[in-house]
Amino acid sequence: MPKKMLERVLSLRRAAPPHGDEAAENNDDGATDDSKTKKQQLPLTTRAFNYFTRMGPIGPCLAFLFLVFLALLSLLLFHSHSFVCVSSYYDPVYRSRLLGLDGLESDFGSLGVPWCRSKHGKTVEWTSKDLLNGLEEFVPIYEARPIKNNMYGMGFDHSFGLWFTARWLKPDLMIESGAFKGHSTWVLRQAMPDIPIVSLSPRHPEKYLKKGPAYVDGNCTYFAGKDFVDFGNVDWGSVMKKHGITDLSRVLIFFDDHQNELKRIKQALKVGFQHLVFEDNYDTGTGDHYSLRQICDQFYIRGGGHSCFRDSDEARIRSKRKKFWEKGTDIDELCGPGEAWWGVRGYMRDNFNHSNQLISHAEHFQNSRFLESILDVYWELPPVAGPSLTHQTRYDPARSTSPIVEDGRYGLFQRLGLARLETSTFNGYTQMVYVQISKQ
Ligand SMILES: C[S@@+](CC[C@H](N)C(=O)[O-])C[C@H]1O[C@@H](n2cnc3c(N)ncnc32)[C@H](O)[C@@H]1O
Repeated sequence: MPKKMLERVLSLRRAAPPHGDEAAENNDDGATDDSKTKKQQLPLTTRAFNYFTRMGPIGPCLAFLFLVFLALLSLLLFHSHSFVCVSSYYDPVYRSRLLGLDGLESDFGSLGVPWCRSKHGKTVEWTSKDLLNGLEEFVPIYEARPIKNNMYGMGFDHSFGLWFTARWLKPDLMIESGAFKGHSTWVLRQAMPDIPIVSLSPRHPEKYLKKGPAYVDGNCTYFAGKDFVDFGNVDWGSVMKKHGITDLSRVLIFFDDHQNELKRIKQALKVGFQHLVFEDNYDTGTGDHYSLRQICDQFYIRGGGHSCFRDSDEARIRSKRKKFWEKGTDIDELCGPGEAWWGVRGYMRDNFNHSNQLISHAEHFQNSRFLESILDVYWELPPVAGPSLTHQTRYDPARSTSPIVEDGRYGLFQRLGLARLETSTFNGYTQMVYVQISKQ
């Protein structure tokens, strides 16, 4: 190497960023292996400049063009969301690689998605196109919600699911059990502006108004506060009479009260209600009440049943995924004493887990058979969009059906207005379910 060029390279090395020098000074190894640390610390731009200045008179021109190219490239990357997503921690492919799992296609539902069989295999009338059209309409409605921070209540996915179902079914009366600050009452009202609502909740939503945003509806009969009555104890005959309801198939019930869903379904069936939505349809091993999803998680259902064998593929995959998804459960959380995996470690939970009961596998099996004998339709709301788009980190896609807007479809996500919503609103998905029931 000519002496002049060698000096230039050496001086450039000396001019390495101060952090690098400090690190080297504080690091014995750095002092002994100087070439390695210093070479890595030279920025790409400095190295490129160094290269161009060796080229004689045309060097500065090339260096200038190189700088212009760099500026254009950085502008392009800054404005390209897909670049951000591809390199993102939230990207399923990136995560899958880290986890050592298969690619994108196998991510959603890769740990099985149990479902409830209906009596005659009937399904809902709406299609994914209807859901997409609904999303486009619902996003601006949701943006105008009165309760912006609905922590402990519904987020975007379930708000959309409830609005869509109510709007599609067009009931003559809507009943809600579990109102909290009134966000779900507001969602029901957006779906059906003119029909009455009955709301049951131990604490009246108006109580929350003193502390901040809440919603109290003008066309709603509240069984709340001192007038609270549990759904199972309401005199539904007189409530229906008061609202002029003669056909119970014209009523939609929404449960968000964290009660055992088997108990609720039996109570609704006894009255003759047919259309029910359950907000928290918790997956096996999670949640504070026995859910329809848990009940239908059975060995004879495709995607259902579990093994508590610690060396199984399921155990290995679950323990890896748990590190990435807050609601992911490993085999220790899934399996209780005696390898009881059903419900939550063999327990049928009720009332926010204030009460629970150990049940045998035979009982769990019977519960599923009972459900199948009264179900006309079972439909789990898919997540609204894939996690590389929403950046949600809570539910594990491996236990969920494919989203309405699949990963990679950022253009569609943006067109629907979903990119305008805060990430936290996508964190509450728990397989909301719509069911239609009738006596055996
Ligand atoms: C998760 S919050 C409901 C959130 C609300 N649906 C929303 O999205 O904003 C659960 C609510 O159920 C109420 N609750 C508790 N026990 C209940 C019962 N037996 N019947 C009806 N509601 C009940 C709680 O007081 C609480 O307001």
